[in-house]
Amino acid sequence: MKKVGIIGVGEYLPKKVLTNKDLEKMVDTSDEWITTRTGIKQRRLVAKNEAASDLAIKASYQALEDARLKPEDLDLIIVASITGDMPFPSVSCLVQNAIGAKKAACFDISAACAGFVYAVTIAKQFIESGLYKNVLVVGVEVLSSVTDWKDRNTCVLFGDGAGAAVLSQVKSGGILSSYLGSDGSKKDLLYIPAGGSRLPVSKETIDNRMHYIKMQGNELFKLAVTLMAEAAQIALKKAGLDCKDIDLVIPHQANIRIIMAMAKKLKLPEDKIYLNIAKYGNMSSASTATALCEAKKEGRIKKGDIILLDAFGAGLVWGACVIKW
Ligand code: COA
Repeated sequence: MKKVGIIGVGEYLPKKVLTNKDLEKMVDTSDEWITTRTGIKQRRLVAKNEAASDLAIKASYQALEDARLKPEDLDLIIVASITGDMPFPSVSCLVQNAIGAKKAACFDISAACAGFVYAVTIAKQFIESGLYKNVLVVGVEVLSSVTDWKDRNTCVLFGDGAGAAVLSQVKSGGILSSYLGSDGSKKDLLYIPAGGSRLPVSKETIDNRMHYIKMQGNELFKLAVTLMAEAAQIALKKAGLDCKDIDLVIPHQANIRIIMAMAKKLKLPEDKIYLNIAKYGNMSSASTATALCEAKKEGRIKKGDIILLDAFGAGLVWGACVIKW
């Protein structure tokens, strides 16, 4: 079996910063509440003329440079996003055109906050099978476009950003195992009611604020802790490893208390958990992607390290990958 690894990473965060103090002026909340309940201090937001593909393109160029590949070397581009530029075409086609990846096939996937873990796992199969050599995976979201800025239960949580990774065959290490899960019976815990084919845009859907994220935070919290811990254990077992073998966990960044409760379940010390939630909030598929990129840039990932990607999101979907760097 071919070994498949991540050979380059990149990211792009929009320039505009929205702090908790800024949010205090918009809804009935406080910096203290947001910080203690979520670990978030600020988040990035796109400018008026910026959309998902703009962020994805910049992250992709960086990942390609890190991988020392040219856009023409790419065989496939997979973008994980629930906030693409438009219903169609796919964000991946917009990226393909902008960067000039003339040879690449393209598609987007919808797996919410687990999107990057799902896309990395899909990319791995294409390379293992021998169909493709170099695959670009991007996690990108403009959650500010679907956030109800009048709802304090949700608007304090989300942000915009993009992270990217290039996957290719490697001589040693690589992705040792992947595990993906889902439970559609819990679809109503986190969703956007309107804007699709069930409830197309109408005056009524707009008046009722149905194009924004609806969330039952408490229920999700408990499920996230259980399912992320379970995903880690299953992926580790598949790789023939144990929690004590992990050098660094790159978790989905939804809430610092979710991450720490998961770490406690797995008996993992805090210094083995990578966090960027304070700076960016929850960026769905872009959270794990940017966290991986930043951990690498900061020197937290060294050759031979065992890395665990672990994510959970709307659907519900969840998953984990064990990677030997
Ligand atoms: N500022 C101040 N108070 C707020 C608030 C805010 N931004 N948001 C909610 N509250 C209030 C609630 O109205 C509630 O008040 P009440 O007791 O008078 O009804 C109180 O704070 C507690 O709400 P609760 O929902 O129990 O808080 P919590 O500790 O569960 O934290 C979340 C809320 C959303 C931060 C937390 O549940 C969470 O992170 N859930 C997971 C969300 C998630 O992961 N989503 C994405 C999945 S990928």
